[in-house]
Amino acid sequence: MFSVKELVESVSLTSLPSNYIFGNTESDRHCLLMEPEETVPIIDFSLLTSHDPHQRSKTITQLGNACLDWGFFMVINHGVAETLRDEMVRETESFFDLRGDEKKQYAGKKLFDPIRCGTSFNANVDKTLLWRDYLKIHVHPHFNAPSKPYGLSKVLREYCEKTREMASELLRGISESLGLEERYINEKLGVESSESHQLFVANMYPPCPQPELAMGLPPHSDHGLLTILMQNGIQGLQVMHKGKWVLINPLPNSFLVNTGDHMEILTNGKYKSVVHRAVVNNKSTRISIGTAHGPPLDTPVSPAKELVADDAGQAYLGITYRNYLELQQSKSLSGKSCLDRLRFSM
Ligand code: OGA
Ligand code: NI
Repeated sequence: MFSVKELVESVSLTSLPSNYIFGNTESDRHCLLMEPEETVPIIDFSLLTSHDPHQRSKTITQLGNACLDWGFFMVINHGVAETLRDEMVRETESFFDLRGDEKKQYAGKKLFDPIRCGTSFNANVDKTLLWRDYLKIHVHPHFNAPSKPYGLSKVLREYCEKTREMASELLRGISESLGLEERYINEKLGVESSESHQLFVANMYPPCPQPELAMGLPPHSDHGLLTILMQNGIQGLQVMHKGKWVLINPLPNSFLVNTGDHMEILTNGKYKSVVHRAVVNNKSTRISIGTAHGPPLDTPVSPAKELVADDAGQAYLGITYRNYLELQQSKSLSGKSCLDRLRFSM
């Protein structure tokens, strides 16, 4: 079966097919912080770009704390129009609604193919299938878009430009929060260069007959420096915080941002990538849209010298983003297993 969406539309399911039984996620749902004693950090983007140095520096401190404590935060007052966000969700839905034969040209191909859609994570090797369909598009340095639905390309281009600008601005603030020059990360990692890499990922999680037994996306960390995510109003994202899963309830019109593995490598472990997962529900289709922001594919990334005390203090091996993506895509998605391969044993 090529997609979960087709599966639920073709038969009336009363129970979960056995190849989707992930295990009982109910027990660990008890770990959820229902009333988190700490709330998810909120970053007011307009203050980060403010000309008032006091406001800006206060926000940079908040941003640094968010990266240290959570690896995850919500961004408000970001200036991306709500209409653009809504259109992006609608066009994504229309893509998933295309007939199977219209999507097939993008199915089951290789990691660096410009456009790829499919199901699960790595359906060839996943022992248990995930309750998730996806569309992945490499949108920078070369912009790509499916020719259908007709309106997708324009909206996608604009959405990806806006999120790229947001990522650069956040990385300026993050550089400063580390005591580095504002332009440090963007310059050293070529994030603002014409070769920087951006991957658009849309996830669709159809209603599931036994959501407690299935998994949308298992616990994992993201590969890049930052991921910027939004969703269609249906909850499902959970973030690991202090050993517990926290269900994320985003403020209206906010973006969710998390630090990725390349941030952890670059900062020599000071800002760790955050483990998160997506659970599913039995009522509504959930759509989430993420953009992963990384360096140019062939730029080697290793811990910033400024953040490593001495030669013996380097905690991770350097790697190019390309090799890292290949490593992650060669297996099933599992926690921080890719990053673990780059750790120096100390
Ligand atoms: C991802 C991801 C979370 C979500 O695409 O890497 O973690 O809420 N998505 O769908
Ligand atoms: Ni993720």
